[in-house]
Amino acid sequence: MRIVVTGSIATDHLMTFPGRISEQLIAGKLDRISLSLLVDVLEVRDGGVAANIAYGLARLGHRPLLVGAVGADFHDYGGRLAGLGVDTSAVHVSATRHTARFLCTTDTDGRQLASFYTGAMAEASMIDLADVLRRHDGADLVLIGADDPSAMVRHTRACRTLGIPFAADPSQQLARLTGPEIRELVEGADHLFTNEYEHELLLSKTGWTRDDVLRRVSVWITTLGDKGSRIERADESPLDVPAVPADKVADPTGVGDAFRAGYLASLAAGADAEQCARMGSALATMALSAVGTQTYTPAPGRVRELLAAAYGRDTLPTADAPAEAGRG
Ligand SMILES: Nc1ncnc2c1ncn2[C@@H]1O[C@H](COP(=O)(O)OP(=O)(O)OP(=O)(O)O)[C@@H](O)[C@H]1O
Ligand SMILES: [Mg+2]
Repeated sequence: MRIVVTGSIATDHLMTFPGRISEQLIAGKLDRISLSLLVDVLEVRDGGVAANIAYGLARLGHRPLLVGAVGADFHDYGGRLAGLGVDTSAVHVSATRHTARFLCTTDTDGRQLASFYTGAMAEASMIDLADVLRRHDGADLVLIGADDPSAMVRHTRACRTLGIPFAADPSQQLARLTGPEIRELVEGADHLFTNEYEHELLLSKTGWTRDDVLRRVSVWITTLGDKGSRIERADESPLDVPAVPADKVADPTGVGDAFRAGYLASLAAGADAEQCARMGSALATMALSAVGTQTYTPAPGRVRELLAAAYGRDTLPTADAPAEAGRG
Protein backbone atom coordinates (compact mmCIF):
# COMPACT_ATOMS: atom_id res chain seq x y z
CA MET A 1 0.00 0.00 0.00
CA ARG A 2 1.49 3.29 -1.12
CA ILE A 3 0.89 6.04 1.45
CA VAL A 4 1.43 9.68 0.56
CA VAL A 5 1.82 12.10 3.45
CA THR A 6 1.22 15.79 2.79
CA GLY A 7 1.61 18.63 5.30
CA SER A 8 4.11 20.77 7.13
CA ILE A 9 7.84 20.14 7.25
CA ALA A 10 9.59 22.36 9.79
CA THR A 11 12.37 22.67 12.31
CA ASP A 12 12.07 23.82 15.92
CA HIS A 13 14.83 25.97 17.38
CA LEU A 14 14.42 25.79 21.12
CA MET A 15 16.51 28.07 23.33
CA THR A 16 16.83 28.39 27.08
CA PHE A 17 17.33 31.76 28.79
CA PRO A 18 18.93 31.33 32.22
CA GLY A 19 16.87 34.06 33.91
CA ARG A 20 13.44 35.68 33.85
CA ILE A 21 12.30 37.29 30.62
CA SER A 22 9.86 39.46 32.63
CA GLU A 23 12.78 41.06 34.52
CA GLN A 24 14.20 42.35 31.23
CA LEU A 25 11.03 44.25 30.39
CA ILE A 26 11.03 47.89 31.55
CA ALA A 27 7.58 49.33 32.22
CA GLY A 28 7.11 52.66 30.44
CA LYS A 29 9.79 51.83 27.84
CA LEU A 30 8.08 48.97 26.04
CA ASP A 31 7.26 51.16 23.04
CA ARG A 32 11.05 51.38 22.49
CA ILE A 33 11.76 47.73 23.28
CA SER A 34 15.07 46.49 21.97
CA LEU A 35 16.08 43.35 23.74
CA SER A 36 18.54 40.60 23.01
CA LEU A 37 18.46 37.60 25.29
CA LEU A 38 21.75 35.78 25.73
CA VAL A 39 20.70 32.15 25.70
CA ASP A 40 22.88 29.26 26.75
CA VAL A 41 21.12 26.28 25.16
CA LEU A 42 19.99 25.80 21.57
CA GLU A 43 18.35 22.61 20.47
CA VAL A 44 17.40 22.16 16.83
CA ARG A 45 14.72 19.53 16.29
CA ASP A 46 13.33 18.23 13.06
CA GLY A 47 9.56 18.29 12.90
CA GLY A 48 6.47 19.29 10.95
CA VAL A 49 3.44 16.99 10.96
CA ALA A 50 4.00 15.39 7.55
CA ALA A 51 7.66 14.69 8.23
CA ASN A 52 6.82 13.26 11.67
CA ILE A 53 4.20 10.90 10.25
CA ALA A 54 6.44 9.88 7.35
CA TYR A 55 9.25 9.21 9.86
CA GLY A 56 7.06 6.82 11.88
CA LEU A 57 5.89 4.99 8.74
CA ALA A 58 9.45 4.59 7.48
CA ARG A 59 10.56 3.26 10.86
CA LEU A 60 7.86 0.61 10.55
CA GLY A 61 9.22 -0.53 7.21
CA HIS A 62 7.10 1.52 4.80
CA ARG A 63 8.28 3.84 2.06
CA PRO A 64 5.93 6.83 2.35
CA LEU A 65 6.03 9.61 -0.22
CA LEU A 66 6.46 12.95 1.57
CA VAL A 67 4.77 15.96 -0.06
CA GLY A 68 5.39 19.44 1.29
CA ALA A 69 7.41 22.61 0.70
CA VAL A 70 10.83 23.41 2.19
CA GLY A 71 13.83 25.68 1.64
CA ALA A 72 17.33 24.83 0.43
CA ASP A 73 18.29 24.41 4.11
CA PHE A 74 16.29 21.13 4.11
CA HIS A 75 19.29 19.33 2.62
CA ASP A 76 20.58 17.61 5.78
CA TYR A 77 17.14 17.03 7.27
CA GLY A 78 15.87 15.54 4.01
CA GLY A 79 18.97 13.39 3.69
CA ARG A 80 18.33 11.90 7.12
CA LEU A 81 14.67 11.15 6.31
CA ALA A 82 15.65 9.62 2.97
CA GLY A 83 18.25 7.48 4.72
CA LEU A 84 15.48 6.08 6.92
CA GLY A 85 13.30 5.17 3.95
CA VAL A 86 11.11 8.23 3.35
CA ASP A 87 10.73 9.08 -0.33
CA THR A 88 11.58 12.80 -0.36
CA SER A 89 11.78 13.13 -4.15
CA ALA A 90 8.44 14.98 -4.38
CA VAL A 91 9.28 17.64 -1.78
CA HIS A 92 9.09 21.12 -3.30
CA VAL A 93 12.21 23.19 -2.63
CA SER A 94 11.63 26.96 -2.60
CA ALA A 95 14.11 29.12 -4.50
CA THR A 96 13.80 32.00 -2.06
CA ARG A 97 12.41 30.98 1.33
CA HIS A 98 13.75 28.95 4.24
CA THR A 99 12.02 25.87 5.64
CA ALA A 100 9.27 26.75 8.14
CA ARG A 101 10.80 27.37 11.56
CA PHE A 102 9.52 27.65 15.10
CA LEU A 103 11.84 29.78 17.26
CA CYS A 104 11.17 29.67 20.95
CA THR A 105 13.03 30.97 23.99
CA THR A 106 11.97 29.60 27.35
CA ASP A 107 13.10 31.13 30.64
CA THR A 108 13.67 29.54 34.05
CA ASP A 109 9.97 30.01 34.95
CA GLY A 110 8.83 28.32 31.75
CA ARG A 111 7.71 31.67 30.26
CA GLN A 112 8.19 31.80 26.51
CA LEU A 113 8.82 34.20 23.65
CA ALA A 114 8.24 32.51 20.32
CA SER A 115 7.87 33.19 16.62
CA PHE A 116 6.72 30.92 13.84
CA TYR A 117 8.12 31.61 10.40
CA THR A 118 5.93 30.01 7.72
CA GLY A 119 8.62 30.39 5.07
CA ALA A 120 8.57 27.89 2.25
CA MET A 121 5.36 26.29 3.55
CA ALA A 122 3.52 29.16 1.86
CA GLU A 123 4.56 27.56 -1.44
CA ALA A 124 2.88 24.22 -0.68
CA SER A 125 -0.17 25.46 -2.58
CA MET A 126 1.98 25.50 -5.73
CA ILE A 127 2.29 21.70 -5.52
CA ASP A 128 0.10 19.91 -8.05
CA LEU A 129 -0.67 16.64 -6.25
CA ALA A 130 -2.22 15.06 -9.35
CA ASP A 131 1.02 15.68 -11.23
CA VAL A 132 3.12 14.36 -8.31
CA LEU A 133 1.07 11.15 -8.22
CA ARG A 134 1.39 10.68 -11.97
CA ARG A 135 5.17 10.84 -11.64
CA HIS A 136 5.28 8.57 -8.55
CA ASP A 137 3.14 5.54 -9.36
CA GLY A 138 -0.06 6.89 -7.77
CA ALA A 139 -1.21 6.32 -4.21
CA ASP A 140 -3.54 4.08 -2.25
CA LEU A 141 -4.09 6.64 0.49
CA VAL A 142 -3.16 10.30 0.87
CA LEU A 143 -2.99 11.88 4.32
CA ILE A 144 -3.71 15.61 4.23
CA GLY A 145 -2.07 17.08 7.31
CA ALA A 146 -1.73 20.63 8.64
CA ASP A 147 -0.14 22.78 5.96
CA ASP A 148 -0.69 26.01 4.12
CA PRO A 149 -4.55 26.15 4.18
CA SER A 150 -4.93 26.58 0.43
CA ALA A 151 -2.61 23.61 -0.15
CA MET A 152 -4.78 21.47 2.12
CA VAL A 153 -7.89 22.36 0.15
CA ARG A 154 -6.10 21.89 -3.17
CA HIS A 155 -4.73 18.44 -2.24
CA THR A 156 -8.15 17.32 -0.99
CA ARG A 157 -9.79 18.37 -4.25
CA ALA A 158 -7.12 16.50 -6.22
CA CYS A 159 -7.83 13.30 -4.27
CA ARG A 160 -11.56 13.65 -4.79
CA THR A 161 -11.13 14.27 -8.52
CA LEU A 162 -8.78 11.30 -8.91
CA GLY A 163 -10.91 9.07 -6.69
CA ILE A 164 -7.99 8.39 -4.32
CA PRO A 165 -8.93 7.64 -0.68
CA PHE A 166 -7.71 10.33 1.68
CA ALA A 167 -7.30 10.88 5.40
CA ALA A 168 -8.20 14.35 6.67
CA ASP A 169 -5.90 15.42 9.51
CA PRO A 170 -6.29 19.20 9.83
CA SER A 171 -5.05 19.34 13.50
CA GLN A 172 -3.63 22.74 14.46
CA GLN A 173 -4.81 24.40 11.26
CA LEU A 174 -8.44 24.02 12.41
CA ALA A 175 -7.88 27.22 14.38
CA ARG A 176 -7.02 29.04 11.19
CA LEU A 177 -9.40 27.40 8.67
CA THR A 178 -12.90 28.71 8.02
CA GLY A 179 -16.02 26.54 8.40
CA PRO A 180 -16.49 26.14 4.62
CA GLU A 181 -12.82 25.18 4.20
CA ILE A 182 -13.05 22.54 6.94
CA ARG A 183 -16.21 21.10 5.37
CA GLU A 184 -14.38 20.80 2.09
CA LEU A 185 -11.44 18.98 3.77
CA VAL A 186 -13.70 16.49 5.54
CA GLU A 187 -16.34 15.71 2.88
CA GLY A 188 -15.77 12.20 1.55
CA ALA A 189 -12.67 11.45 3.66
CA ASP A 190 -11.87 7.81 4.23
CA HIS A 191 -10.41 8.67 7.64
CA LEU A 192 -10.74 11.77 9.79
CA PHE A 193 -8.21 12.33 12.61
CA THR A 194 -8.64 14.84 15.43
CA ASN A 195 -7.72 15.13 19.10
CA GLU A 196 -10.40 15.74 21.72
CA TYR A 197 -10.31 19.52 21.47
CA GLU A 198 -10.17 19.51 17.67
CA HIS A 199 -13.19 17.17 17.66
CA GLU A 200 -15.28 19.91 19.29
CA LEU A 201 -13.67 22.74 17.32
CA LEU A 202 -14.48 20.96 14.06
CA LEU A 203 -18.15 20.57 15.04
CA SER A 204 -18.40 24.18 16.16
CA LYS A 205 -16.73 25.63 13.05
CA THR A 206 -18.53 23.46 10.48
CA GLY A 207 -21.91 23.73 12.22
CA TRP A 208 -22.27 19.98 11.64
CA THR A 209 -23.48 17.53 14.24
CA ARG A 210 -21.49 14.38 14.98
CA ASP A 211 -23.90 12.43 12.78
CA ASP A 212 -23.47 14.95 9.96
CA VAL A 213 -19.72 14.30 10.07
CA LEU A 214 -20.10 10.52 10.30
CA ARG A 215 -22.31 10.53 7.20
CA ARG A 216 -19.44 12.15 5.30
CA VAL A 217 -16.45 10.07 6.43
CA SER A 218 -15.90 6.32 6.70
CA VAL A 219 -14.29 6.49 10.13
CA TRP A 220 -13.52 9.27 12.61
CA ILE A 221 -10.61 8.64 14.98
CA THR A 222 -10.26 10.95 17.96
CA THR A 223 -7.23 10.74 20.23
CA LEU A 224 -7.93 11.43 23.90
CA GLY A 225 -4.43 11.86 25.39
CA ASP A 226 -3.76 9.37 28.19
CA LYS A 227 -7.38 8.19 27.89
CA GLY A 228 -6.59 6.57 24.54
CA SER A 229 -8.64 7.00 21.39
CA ARG A 230 -12.19 6.67 20.10
CA ILE A 231 -13.32 5.18 16.80
CA GLU A 232 -16.63 6.42 15.46
CA ARG A 233 -18.63 5.29 12.44
CA ALA A 234 -22.14 6.06 11.24
CA ASP A 235 -24.76 3.73 12.72
CA GLU A 236 -22.30 2.07 15.15
CA SER A 237 -21.59 2.68 18.82
CA PRO A 238 -18.27 4.43 19.41
CA LEU A 239 -15.38 2.09 20.19
CA ASP A 240 -12.92 3.23 22.87
CA VAL A 241 -9.35 1.94 22.69
CA PRO A 242 -7.25 2.45 25.85
CA ALA A 243 -3.82 4.09 25.58
CA VAL A 244 -0.61 2.11 26.01
CA PRO A 245 0.60 3.16 29.48
CA ALA A 246 3.81 5.19 29.41
CA ASP A 247 6.60 4.47 31.94
CA LYS A 248 8.22 7.76 31.13
CA VAL A 249 6.81 11.01 29.78
CA ALA A 250 9.78 12.84 28.29
CA ASP A 251 8.15 15.09 25.66
CA PRO A 252 4.51 15.15 24.54
CA THR A 253 5.25 16.92 21.23
CA GLY A 254 4.43 14.81 18.20
CA VAL A 255 2.58 12.00 19.97
CA GLY A 256 -0.45 12.61 17.77
CA ASP A 257 1.71 12.23 14.66
CA ALA A 258 3.26 8.99 15.95
CA PHE A 259 -0.27 7.70 16.60
CA ARG A 260 -1.20 8.38 12.97
CA ALA A 261 1.95 6.64 11.71
CA GLY A 262 1.18 3.51 13.71
CA TYR A 263 -2.47 3.60 12.70
CA LEU A 264 -1.70 3.90 8.97
CA ALA A 265 1.02 1.25 9.07
CA SER A 266 -1.47 -1.24 10.51
CA LEU A 267 -4.10 -0.14 8.03
CA ALA A 268 -1.68 -0.93 5.21
CA ALA A 269 -1.25 -4.40 6.70
CA GLY A 270 -5.00 -4.97 6.45
CA ALA A 271 -5.82 -4.54 10.14
CA ASP A 272 -9.22 -3.36 11.42
CA ALA A 273 -9.69 0.06 13.02
CA GLU A 274 -9.30 -1.25 16.59
CA GLN A 275 -5.98 -2.95 15.80
CA CYS A 276 -4.86 0.18 13.95
CA ALA A 277 -5.64 2.34 16.99
CA ARG A 278 -3.71 -0.05 19.24
CA MET A 279 -0.66 0.18 17.00
CA GLY A 280 -1.09 3.97 16.93
CA SER A 281 -1.17 4.01 20.72
CA ALA A 282 1.99 1.90 20.99
CA LEU A 283 3.88 4.24 18.69
CA ALA A 284 2.52 7.33 20.48
CA THR A 285 3.78 5.98 23.80
CA MET A 286 7.21 5.40 22.29
CA ALA A 287 7.25 8.97 20.98
CA LEU A 288 6.16 10.23 24.41
CA SER A 289 9.17 8.58 26.04
CA ALA A 290 11.69 10.25 23.73
CA VAL A 291 12.68 13.93 23.52
CA GLY A 292 11.87 15.22 20.02
CA THR A 293 9.33 14.01 17.48
CA GLN A 294 11.61 11.92 15.26
CA THR A 295 13.84 10.28 17.84
CA TYR A 296 11.96 7.15 18.93
CA THR A 297 12.92 3.78 17.44
CA PRO A 298 10.01 1.33 17.16
CA ALA A 299 11.92 -1.95 17.11
CA PRO A 300 9.39 -4.72 16.23
CA GLY A 301 10.12 -6.66 19.43
CA ARG A 302 9.52 -3.61 21.63
CA VAL A 303 6.29 -2.73 19.79
CA ARG A 304 4.98 -6.26 20.33
CA GLU A 305 5.94 -6.14 24.02
CA LEU A 306 4.03 -2.90 24.51
CA LEU A 307 0.99 -4.21 22.60
CA ALA A 308 0.98 -7.50 24.51
CA ALA A 309 1.28 -5.74 27.90
CA ALA A 310 -1.52 -3.27 27.11
CA TYR A 311 -4.01 -5.42 25.21
CA GLY A 312 -3.04 -9.06 25.77
CA ARG A 313 -0.85 -11.43 23.81
CA ASP A 314 -3.87 -12.89 21.96
CA THR A 315 -4.49 -9.52 20.27
CA LEU A 316 -1.06 -9.38 18.61
CA PRO A 317 -0.93 -9.29 14.83
CA THR A 318 0.54 -12.53 13.46
CA ALA A 319 4.33 -12.37 12.97
CA ASP A 320 5.45 -8.85 12.15
CA ALA A 321 2.72 -8.35 9.60
CA PRO A 322 2.49 -4.53 9.85
CA ALA A 323 6.08 -3.97 8.74
CA GLU A 324 6.28 -6.71 6.12
CA ALA A 325 2.93 -6.20 4.42
CA GLY A 326 3.56 -2.51 4.03
CA ARG A 327 6.94 -2.67 2.35
CA GLY A 328 7.21 -1.23 -1.10
N1 LIG B 1 0.11 10.38 28.98
C1 LIG B 1 -0.08 9.49 28.01
N2 LIG B 1 0.08 8.16 28.27
C2 LIG B 1 -0.08 7.24 27.29
N3 LIG B 1 -0.41 7.53 26.03
C3 LIG B 1 -0.59 8.84 25.72
C4 LIG B 1 -0.44 9.89 26.67
N4 LIG B 1 -0.67 11.06 26.06
C5 LIG B 1 -0.95 10.75 24.78
N5 LIG B 1 -0.91 9.43 24.57
C6 LIG B 1 -1.14 8.69 23.30
O1 LIG B 1 -1.00 9.59 22.22
C7 LIG B 1 -2.21 9.68 21.48
C8 LIG B 1 -2.37 11.10 20.98
O2 LIG B 1 -2.42 11.96 22.11
P1 LIG B 1 -3.23 13.33 22.12
O3 LIG B 1 -4.68 13.07 22.02
O4 LIG B 1 -2.75 14.10 23.31
O5 LIG B 1 -2.71 13.98 20.74
P2 LIG B 1 -2.51 15.50 20.32
O6 LIG B 1 -3.24 16.40 21.27
O7 LIG B 1 -2.86 15.60 18.90
O8 LIG B 1 -0.95 15.66 20.54
P3 LIG B 1 0.11 16.52 19.70
O9 LIG B 1 -0.64 17.35 18.73
O10 LIG B 1 0.84 17.30 20.75
O11 LIG B 1 0.98 15.51 19.07
C9 LIG B 1 -3.29 9.18 22.42
O12 LIG B 1 -4.38 8.62 21.71
C10 LIG B 1 -2.54 8.12 23.23
O13 LIG B 1 -2.48 6.91 22.52
MG1 LIG C 1 -2.17 16.91 17.39
